[in-house]
Amino acid sequence: MRKINIGLSEEQRSGVSELLNSDLANAYLVLIKTKKFHWDVVGPQFRSLHLLWEEQYQALTANIDALAERVRTLGFFPVGTAAGFLKYGSIKEQSDNIPLATEMVAQLVDDHEEIIRNLREHVDQASEKFSDEGTADFLTGLMEQHEEMAWMLRSFIEGESLASDGNKPSAAKIPVEAGSN
Ligand SMILES: [Fe+2]
Repeated sequence: MRKINIGLSEEQRSGVSELLNSDLANAYLVLIKTKKFHWDVVGPQFRSLHLLWEEQYQALTANIDALAERVRTLGFFPVGTAAGFLKYGSIKEQSDNIPLATEMVAQLVDDHEEIIRNLREHVDQASEKFSDEGTADFLTGLMEQHEEMAWMLRSFIEGESLASDGNKPSAAKIPVEAGSN
């Protein structure tokens, strides 16, 4: 096999591939959960959540392909089996019961936040430990996408806890920059 000569040692490329494989596994696990909730959700927000989750699993599918292909770019092989996703990922699968819509959303917020924390750590490691700025940049882009997904989901349940005691959710305070109009 032809030697890869891109300015990163085999150890560096291998270390980064391990990070990418754990991110790939978690992306796949959250994709599975997102798709299942897209099928199962019921309630007044059915259409909004059904459509949002369709958008999100399409984005996740594209990201998963990019993660796997980056592992190949670095000369290694991506995890690609259900057993492998569970082994290398940390996201907990939903059990057989079907949660309420708000519980589904809350679970996915937690999952995306876990992925964001992992990615933030992996960006640092890719750059500082393995000197792979390409992967650091790539993972930064993924992290930003998960931050947006988490925000979209969080917005569905923000106000729920305020409303549950019978009080109306209070209006959000919008900071206004001095001098702007
Ligand atoms: Fe569908």
